[in-house]
Amino acid sequence: MSTETENKICILGIETSCDDTSAAVLLNGTALLSHIITSQTATHQKYGGVVPEIASREHSLHWQAVVQQALEKAKLEFSDLSAVAVTYGPGLVGSLLVGVSAAKALAYALDIPLLGINHLEGHIYANFLHNPDLEFPLLALLVSGGHTHLILFRGHGDYQVLGKTRDDAAGEALDKIARVLGLGYPGGPQIQSKAREGDAKAFDFPRAMLEPGSLDFSFSGVKSSVLNTLNSARMKGQELNAADIAASFQEAIVDVLVRKTKIALNQTRVKTLVLAGGVAANELLRETLARELVYQQVRLVFPPPLFCTDNGAMIATAGYYRYLEGDFAPWTLNAVPGLGLI
Ligand code: KG4
Ligand code: ZN
Repeated sequence: MSTETENKICILGIETSCDDTSAAVLLNGTALLSHIITSQTATHQKYGGVVPEIASREHSLHWQAVVQQALEKAKLEFSDLSAVAVTYGPGLVGSLLVGVSAAKALAYALDIPLLGINHLEGHIYANFLHNPDLEFPLLALLVSGGHTHLILFRGHGDYQVLGKTRDDAAGEALDKIARVLGLGYPGGPQIQSKAREGDAKAFDFPRAMLEPGSLDFSFSGVKSSVLNTLNSARMKGQELNAADIAASFQEAIVDVLVRKTKIALNQTRVKTLVLAGGVAANELLRETLARELVYQQVRLVFPPPLFCTDNGAMIATAGYYRYLEGDFAPWTLNAVPGLGLI
């Protein structure tokens, strides 16, 4: 054991829930000693989305090298680790099983605790990496490829889901429209860059606000409206401007996210908002919220774009707080593909 890590908490975080194999080493909750990601995007791009069978095989091939690199970059030995944190759900079952099995093997061999991390909590904890001073209560807007949630956090592990999508997640809708516009995968960043050349007022796509005061979301209507617009233009032999579609669609999604978040802030009177998940990397969402919240004295916090999408650092960070609470996982920890937030 190196003297640097004596009496210190050093967590190895492993994330393999979808198509990124990632590992990170975190010292005392804030010093990120290393962070390695092997992306499979290029492999899945030709299929227009993640192919689960291929994803799990790729994780199987790469996890060992990714963990090894994370240790080397951190200039640590395996014996320096205090615990291994791993995503056990939600996600693709084959992908999750690779990470869970790897983490179990490592923790068992090293005789250190295993920490089972909910991927959704991991996304939210990405905010604590650079802002360990965050104070509860917090409101979290979690927007990813599979989830759109507004969550009230009263303390570590003490939270309540205030609203969630009733159909598509925001990222899922962005990915779908990017695909039909021929922009590629993942769609969110492609829509964002295409939108920069377009006019967000060119199309008036619907904003589903649901019942008054509801904090649930629905993005299937706006998605269908874009698809119908494209189809009817195609049938008339018209070519629509893809940049205008991207800009108007992005604005419709962001508009709903921002309006719902403001309602949640008003209802809860919470003064800190954290953004999490891949869609939290979206520039328009960040800028609009920053502008809209400036007069409400709400502190807005979001991770750097790299830590919004799937990464091992967020799992190590969530693991650190779980370690402090002594909340260790049993050796029977299993992958739970449909794991939700309680
Ligand atoms: O959190 P994440 O990496 O994976 C899940 O847990 O789902 O989120 C991926 C989602 C994808 O739908 C992707 O298109 C979207 O996040 N995304 C973005 C941006 N970067 C990633 N959406 C909008 N703007 C972005 N810059
Ligand atoms: Zn994710």
